[in-house]
Amino acid sequence: MPSPVRKTLAGLRPYTATDAANAVDLSDNTNLWGTPPLALSAIQNMPVAALSRYPSTPPTILNETLGRYAGVGPDMIVAGCGSDDLIDCAMRAFAEPGDMIAMAVPTFSMVPVFATINGLRVHMVPLSATFDVDIDALLAPRPALVYLCSPNNPTGTALPPSTIARVVREAPGVVLLDEAYGEFTAAPGFSLVQENKHLVVTRTLSKAFGLAGLRVGYAVLASALAQALATVRGPYKLNIAAEAAAVAAVTGDLAWVRDRAADAATNRDRLGVALRSAGLAPLPSEANFLCVPCRAAADVAQRLLRRGFAVRVLTGLPRITDSLAASQGAALRITVGPWPLMERFVAALQEECNACV
Ligand SMILES: Cc1ncc(COP(=O)(O)O)c(C=O)c1O
Repeated sequence: MPSPVRKTLAGLRPYTATDAANAVDLSDNTNLWGTPPLALSAIQNMPVAALSRYPSTPPTILNETLGRYAGVGPDMIVAGCGSDDLIDCAMRAFAEPGDMIAMAVPTFSMVPVFATINGLRVHMVPLSATFDVDIDALLAPRPALVYLCSPNNPTGTALPPSTIARVVREAPGVVLLDEAYGEFTAAPGFSLVQENKHLVVTRTLSKAFGLAGLRVGYAVLASALAQALATVRGPYKLNIAAEAAAVAAVTGDLAWVRDRAADAATNRDRLGVALRSAGLAPLPSEANFLCVPCRAAADVAQRLLRRGFAVRVLTGLPRITDSLAASQGAALRITVGPWPLMERFVAALQEECNACV
């Protein structure tokens, strides 16, 4: 019998995260300060009887809460199982199989995977040496969808607001602006979405909000597009515990989130100084992680793991800077956390640094 597996899945494998079972996990850019207090008590105090019921659909209170946070009405919010879910659904809502999605690379690794699974053709343009986008090259094939990520994973760099504005102005179709790390910088998405009816901004509670395990992401977009996106997503993708914690966090934990995001930015810059004095050249980051070109990234990561630290290994990155050319496109991606932890990490890294470029 011929394989029953869809042809678009050829060559793809399930995602596996960095193995951090016995280590401090600096590999996934989550919040190393933990979970905000009101979200935690919302989970702890959830009535058990609620578990036998379906979650509300649409999640009206959550949509209102996220809408207030984003400065839009609840009709412009679609929440889902992580922002992964919304990015994946947007490809089915706003493009046909065979259409093209354009993106500047390197970027979030799941995006070309979701695109391939959804039958889209992928147009990749390398980021410039200053981590900007060649807009003419990006839009040349008139893509149905454009994906922008700012601050970008894995580089940590943010796009100039003028680049985002021009792509939104000139793109022939929908622009997906992924601001998963938006809380760590002055991300412009929320302010652009009212005026631009084909802009979809995605955000997440997995990073600055410290709720990665509950899987809450959301899209902010024009009401007509929100209807289509919610249709594709389907009902009940958010469970009631996630919904309760998200409402509590976005209502009452904002000061905690802002303070921890500020701590992350401060410690990121301190970590950058420490890494530079160890002879490394981290890329300029506006997120809660640093991307550090390192030719022996895989080997160094193995040795760091033995010392109790899991970091993300990146290979095959476009050689867009001198440091990435010298590292042959290999790098470590390191999540920033509380300073005492970072100090221990830097000490461990320094001892392994002979293998780094
Ligand atoms: C740029 C970017 N977008 C989206 C996501 C997905 O986040 P989540 O599905 O947890 O909301 C990630 C996760 O690492 C990311 O780095």
